[in-house]
Amino acid sequence: MHKYSLKAATVAAVSFPFSVGAQGLGRFQKFNTSDAIVPVLEVQKFGPTEGGFLFLNTQTNTSTVPAIFTDDGSLVWCDDQFEHSTSVWPIGPLRPQKVRNQTLLFNWVGPVYNEGLGWGTIQVFDDSYTNIYNVTLEESFQIFDHIKHSSYMDFHESEVTDNQTILVTAVNITTADMTAVGGPGDGYVIDSQFYEIEIPSNKVVFRWSSVEHVDQIPLNHSLLPLESLISGNGTSFEHPWGYFHINSVKKYGNDYLISSRLLCSLFYIDAGGNVLWTLSGQNGGDFRLGENTRFCYQHDARIAYQDADRMTITLHDNGDTEYDNNTLTRGLSLDLDMSTKLVTVNRSLSNPTGPVFAVSQGSYQDLSDGHVLLGHGAVPVVEEYDADGNIAMLITFGTYYLQQSYRAYRYPWTGRPATPPRVVAFEGEGTDVYMSWNGATDLAEWSVYCGQPNGGGFSKQATVRWAGFETAVNIPQKCQSVQAEAVTTSGQRTNSSIVTVGKFGL
Ligand SMILES: *[C@@H]1O[C@H](CO)[C@@H](O)[C@H](O)[C@H]1NC(C)=O
Ligand SMILES: *[C@@H]1O[C@H](CO)[C@@H](O)[C@H](O)[C@H]1NC(C)=O
Ligand SMILES: *[C@@H]1O[C@H](CO)[C@@H](O)[C@H](O)[C@H]1NC(C)=O
Ligand SMILES: *[C@@H]1O[C@H](CO)[C@@H](O)[C@H](O)[C@H]1NC(C)=O
Ligand SMILES: *[C@@H]1O[C@H](CO)[C@@H](O)[C@H](O)[C@H]1NC(C)=O
Ligand SMILES: *[C@@H]1O[C@H](CO)[C@@H](O)[C@H](O)[C@H]1NC(C)=O
Ligand SMILES: *[C@@H]1O[C@H](CO)[C@@H](O)[C@H](O)[C@H]1NC(C)=O
Ligand SMILES: *[C@@H]1O[C@H](CO)[C@@H](O)[C@H](O)[C@H]1NC(C)=O
Ligand SMILES: *[C@@H]1O[C@H](CO)[C@@H](O)[C@H](O)[C@H]1NC(C)=O
Ligand SMILES: *[C@@H]1O[C@H](CO)[C@@H](O)[C@H](O)[C@H]1NC(C)=O
Ligand SMILES: *[C@@H]1O[C@H](CO)[C@@H](O)[C@H](O)[C@H]1NC(C)=O
Repeated sequence: MHKYSLKAATVAAVSFPFSVGAQGLGRFQKFNTSDAIVPVLEVQKFGPTEGGFLFLNTQTNTSTVPAIFTDDGSLVWCDDQFEHSTSVWPIGPLRPQKVRNQTLLFNWVGPVYNEGLGWGTIQVFDDSYTNIYNVTLEESFQIFDHIKHSSYMDFHESEVTDNQTILVTAVNITTADMTAVGGPGDGYVIDSQFYEIEIPSNKVVFRWSSVEHVDQIPLNHSLLPLESLISGNGTSFEHPWGYFHINSVKKYGNDYLISSRLLCSLFYIDAGGNVLWTLSGQNGGDFRLGENTRFCYQHDARIAYQDADRMTITLHDNGDTEYDNNTLTRGLSLDLDMSTKLVTVNRSLSNPTGPVFAVSQGSYQDLSDGHVLLGHGAVPVVEEYDADGNIAMLITFGTYYLQQSYRAYRYPWTGRPATPPRVVAFEGEGTDVYMSWNGATDLAEWSVYCGQPNGGGFSKQATVRWAGFETAVNIPQKCQSVQAEAVTTSGQRTNSSIVTVGKFGL
């Protein structure tokens, strides 16, 4: 089996090597006005939740659809151009972020290879869902397919700073002495890198490479065995050893906090690229691990609080990976005493009635009022915890590993789509009319106009309440054509184009 084959063909077999069994593919939402197929979100609420929409990159074994949902599970927007794509997978984090005074939507797109790596572009959309620019990384990279790409950003991070730059990850196949781990002296490894890139010039303002810092972070600190389901063994360019696997970056002052999944460690790096300190989830690194603070294969590390004496760090503690998967996954908040170097648990979040074992991916988002949103990555579960650590909301959206979303976010968002509303109508008992406006966040109702035969003009036949992504209404009259008018909560009206009534299934 080629380790570098495209994910489209092999993700189910290679990345998640076990049978889906009788559970099947889960349930999907399908529409007459859109090609998109997104999972049904099964939402349970147990208490008050925070405001905002949910941002997911819902992935199945055949496609990935970046999508915004209400937290009642109703689809608001999706980028359905990826529904049938087998060459690029938009599997990175989807979320709105502020650049200067504008809130923009960021979404990574590119080829994905089955070691869980990719090289692509971050597409940036404004609130009308217009792709206003792309963040690209055009250095000289060596990757599996030997093809020259227009951009080489990996999908794991997309973090805008308050200085109009964005932090991204990248991977490069290069050579390294692997004798310390029992590999070849002239071995091939996957170098984990991160970049700070200026928006919108795409000028690189900072670059860091794990392989250029093996003096501070030696290869033998990796937990990845030479032989594993998720990596090559380093004997050739085609089978590089992916020992580091960087999966999050965030800037604090002039320093950067990064997460290495396969070293089960966080590193704090200064503006010169030097490692100021290491927090290892296995042996503490430069710290001492207190009770219940061990973590491993983690994602999405962020500093929640920092002063001269202490620091609070949040992360998604997977505990599990594809080859080691018997540890309960949790949302973890750790307090670091910077003078005694003792690490203690601030919060440990897991659902006792629905334990999760997430072998990859995941996110931890601090919301307001002490609430936390956990996305469980490979496991299609999103949880919101309240300030007391109780489950306030539980969402499941399919079958373990078959449906997944790299991260999950909750943010306020206002969408004013540049594209017009869509309407589709079929002959039935009268006329069946289906209406949607992909991405509109404040719809109140729809009016339906029926076109009379022989150019007899349009007459309003129905006004119905907005009922989620696609609103359906049956009109007793047989219309020749229809036009639908979307009405927002503030009374603004926008028409679809006029469509001819068709026969369903033809
Ligand atoms: C699409 O329209 C047909 C005809 O009205 C209807 O039978 C079918 O259920 C609709 N599909 C969806 C997904 O609503
Ligand atoms: C996706 O998974 C489903 C359920 O296991 C399976 O029936 C289907 O063949 C898979 N499709 C591909 C392209 O692997
Ligand atoms: C952002 O600021 C610029 C200049 O200060 C202004 O022209 C623009 O309208 C502002 N945009 C928004 C969305 O507030
Ligand atoms: C961004 O990239 C996509 C595909 O990589 C391309 O289709 C699109 O035109 C680009 N957008 C801009 C604004 O350059
Ligand atoms: C912000 O950007 C400016 C201009 O590029 C630079 O001088 C400054 O050091 C940056 N600040 C931080 C915190 O990166
Ligand atoms: C990738 O690795 C090759 C081989 O070591 C090197 O020539 C190239 O500069 C590296 N690219 C980056 C962006 O680090
Ligand atoms: C890792 O390798 C270095 C030499 O590169 C060696 O000094 C050190 O003892 C090794 N550590 C472990 C834990 O094997
Ligand atoms: C390394 O992996 C390659 C490709 O799977 C395999 O052919 C080779 O035998 C392995 N080498 C060692 C030393 O395990
Ligand atoms: C837990 O973290 C929060 C910041 O996120 C902090 O305000 C609080 O003091 C921490 N609790 C302890 C016991 O350190
Ligand atoms: C869990 O680990 C075992 C042992 O390495 C492996 O056989 C199995 O495929 C793993 N399961 C998952 C879901 O990755
Ligand atoms: C939408 O079209 C109908 C005719 O089908 C027309 O009566 C109505 O005024 C139009 N609405 C807007 C906002 O243009």
